[in-house]
Amino acid sequence: MNLEKKIALVTGAGQGIGKTIAHTLAQHGADVVVADINENAVRSVAQEIEAAGRQALPVVVNVVQLAACEEMVKNAIERFSKIDILVNNAGITRDMVLLRMKEEQWDQVIAVNLKGTFNCTKAVLRYMFRNKYGRIINISSVTGAMGNPGQANYSASKAAVMGFTKAVAREYAHCGITVNAVAPGFIKTAMTDAIPDKEREAMIALIPAQKLGTPEDVAHVVCFLSSDCASYITGQVIHVNGGLYM
Ligand code: NAI
Repeated sequence: MNLEKKIALVTGAGQGIGKTIAHTLAQHGADVVVADINENAVRSVAQEIEAAGRQALPVVVNVVQLAACEEMVKNAIERFSKIDILVNNAGITRDMVLLRMKEEQWDQVIAVNLKGTFNCTKAVLRYMFRNKYGRIINISSVTGAMGNPGQANYSASKAAVMGFTKAVAREYAHCGITVNAVAPGFIKTAMTDAIPDKEREAMIALIPAQKLGTPEDVAHVVCFLSSDCASYITGQVIHVNGGLYM
């Protein structure tokens, strides 16, 4: 999985799974555009990557805004001349059972998780198309495949990301661009730390591996899909969930 001379752009790279993906891509040789809505976080992750010997460009972006995504990509192209790898990882939850879900909880989750993925992909795609090379990896979720109570908005957004992945994969496979999704199960991050202990124990009881996954479990699959080892894999959803969903 040699990613030397590759340029990667990772959204939601300020913490959690995205931060680990950014570090892991850099460990395999890539230079990284570290994108997140959180300014302090992008600066510190970019500094860590530079301290480890790779180049990093911190970018503050709200993926909900197409113009901001286009500006981010323009800056990245000015600095690195190309983008080889895009990881659409920025995501949020706004959990509530449907009867009590507010319209804004629905809209916010769809805006970040689904429209954000569209915005960043659209902004990057024209450069990948020009280079006849690209690796796009969309972070979906097991809930997009099996549903989860309290997460109708989130599950719908993540299922939509799977459909988006397959459509774009079909459109651009002929020009060296692969598009895949990674669907993590329950991974130990701030998102799952927020779940009450009792609920977390009940969740773990459903996982054949009997434990939560780690951000590294996800990042290694993203690295593989980013590499030339995976050049004949496109339109796939790779589940990383300890057997929770098969
Ligand atoms: P997290 O909440 O720890 O990190 C998400 C990052 O995205 C944060 O740094 C946040 O600032 C950034 N972000 C949020 N809204 C943004 C916006 N509008 N524009 C730019 N950046 C924004 O989440 P975590 O757990 O690391 O999740 C990462 C991805 O993995 C998400 O797409 C999530 O849905 C997905 N996922 C996570 C699972 C888990 O168990 N933690 C399971 C399945 C999927």
